[in-house]
Amino acid sequence: MKCVLMHKKIPAAYLELDSETGYILKIYEVCRPEHLPVGVGFKKGIADRAALNEWWTDRAIPASRSGIHEAMEVLKIHDTKTLLTRCFGLSLSDQYWIKPDKSDVKWEAINFFDNPFSDDIGDVLFGNSNKTNGFDFSSPDNTSDGCLKKRWKIIDGKRCLVKGGSKPFQQQPFNEAIASLICQRLEIPHVDYSVIWSGDEPYSVCEDFVSSETELIGAWRVIQTRKKDNSVSVYRHYVNCCEALGVKNIERFLDRMIVLDYIIANEDRHFNNFGLLRNAETLEWIGAAPIFDSGTSLGYDSLTVQIANNKTAQCKPFKKSHIDQLKLATSFEWVDFEKLYGIEDDIKEILSSENAEKYIDEQRKNAIAQSVANRIEIVHRMAAVMENTIVDDVKNDVEENIAEDYLKEVDAHTLDM
Ligand SMILES: Nc1ncnc2c1ncn2[C@@H]1O[C@H](COP(=O)(O)OP(=O)(O)OP(=O)(O)O)[C@@H](O)[C@H]1O
Ligand SMILES: [Mg+2]
Repeated sequence: MKCVLMHKKIPAAYLELDSETGYILKIYEVCRPEHLPVGVGFKKGIADRAALNEWWTDRAIPASRSGIHEAMEVLKIHDTKTLLTRCFGLSLSDQYWIKPDKSDVKWEAINFFDNPFSDDIGDVLFGNSNKTNGFDFSSPDNTSDGCLKKRWKIIDGKRCLVKGGSKPFQQQPFNEAIASLICQRLEIPHVDYSVIWSGDEPYSVCEDFVSSETELIGAWRVIQTRKKDNSVSVYRHYVNCCEALGVKNIERFLDRMIVLDYIIANEDRHFNNFGLLRNAETLEWIGAAPIFDSGTSLGYDSLTVQIANNKTAQCKPFKKSHIDQLKLATSFEWVDFEKLYGIEDDIKEILSSENAEKYIDEQRKNAIAQSVANRIEIVHRMAAVMENTIVDDVKNDVEENIAEDYLKEVDAHTLDM
């Protein structure tokens, strides 16, 4: 299928797309190279097709998405990539889409920011569809990333992402709300998450932080813009890439992200869980995207006894150990520790919402609240000796960008039982 890669209203390139496999077979012409996805190389009039395919296939629902095999059976598809072309590849996180050649369909008429979308795909992904055919595929759920069960919903006129947790504790929705609370107290720009219930299951809900003018460029795309020298740390490479793009002082945001992630022992801040915002038409950089997706934290899949002093928690994206990553923070001056006093009670309240006791008992609740208090204390001590702590070298750098695979986790739990 011949089509145009559109960036909002701007044609960026003409492509040949295999609608069976969802693969880009050929790039005929690049008309606006500056509007190609960030990090897709363009040299001597030729765009890097492999990189463009990587970007395009990353738009599809990952094979590791919870419940995706059942959903694919219902939809009678073999590969989630085939869903991309069924909704013009439109998303609620950026402004790229695919227009069939010679079609006169307009962005204004089809984008999901201003137009309603179907609930069909979301219903299938949540396992509560009563349709077996005749699905309306016009949904941003076809282009949503991440492993947890999720769907977009229009709630009170606002585009919201509703996201579940993983077995056995379903802790991620609560963790998102706890991370929001910490961000709020420390005035860290963040997406506000709250916990909602559907039947017996908790979900987090947050508003879309992208508008019809802006878009999220994941840090993974940002670090594709330059070659990383082996002597440069992962952290410094990200800072250098931001600077080269014209985003100054990203360290200020990274300090906040690193401190939050230390306090909540975040295990999954991979390079698609933070990034930059830009204006999709002018390509002007707005700055760091607000903090989102902080749920894979607070010992979400650990036994209660392991939570209190969780020294084994994985760390991403810069260092393998949380304490090494904390040492990258350039300043703690902005952390108003007084604002965090008594936060344990608010954390316990979040963990007491509606049916929470089905998943999180009193001991677990206390362990989670105590672990936050302990880690705040460590940051406090670190802040006191700040001058001697900044260490930015390649030692213990994270080598790969891999998102947490909950299916693997669930399998491991099942095997343990
Ligand atoms: N509020 C939001 N507004 C716009 N886009 C969002 C928002 N929240 C998430 N996204 C986009 O959706 C993607 C998936 O969401 P999220 O990271 O919360 O899911 P996840 O399943 O927890 O991911 P992971 O695989 O990292 O565990 C994000 O990488 C981001 O591109
Ligand atoms: Mg994510």
